[in-house]
Amino acid sequence: MTICTNKNMNPDDPVCLCFHVTRRKVVNFIRVEKPRRPSQLSECFGAGTGCGWCRPYLERILEDSNRAIQQPASPASSADQDSATENSPPPVIEMTAQQYRKARSAYVRKGGGTPPPGATPIDPIDQSSDQ
Ligand code: FES
Repeated sequence: MTICTNKNMNPDDPVCLCFHVTRRKVVNFIRVEKPRRPSQLSECFGAGTGCGWCRPYLERILEDSNRAIQQPASPASSADQDSATENSPPPVIEMTAQQYRKARSAYVRKGGGTPPPGATPIDPIDQSSDQ
């Protein structure tokens, strides 16, 4: 099953642009560490502890992953559930990586949060639409 389209982020695109944490890293962290609260995702390379833009997406990834664990296709043992989670497609963020980065830049510009040193810089203001 293919989940990546040109309209969606790739699993290796960063979800947390402040700490360069990809969706794949977050999904694997959830699979291995089984966090119970979204705040525990900060233990995954600091995800969500910078500007805060990615927190709703991290929460959604956790919710989607937990849903996949709780609703296996058929009754299964614990080992089967781990296998099902491992084989489940990672949740999709319905925007391109470029759209995601631009939305985060707009969020930061509006004072939503401050990226830490070393974070992916915010995009320059696109003035082409003003002309
Ligand atoms: S993008 Fe994740 S905290 Fe800024």
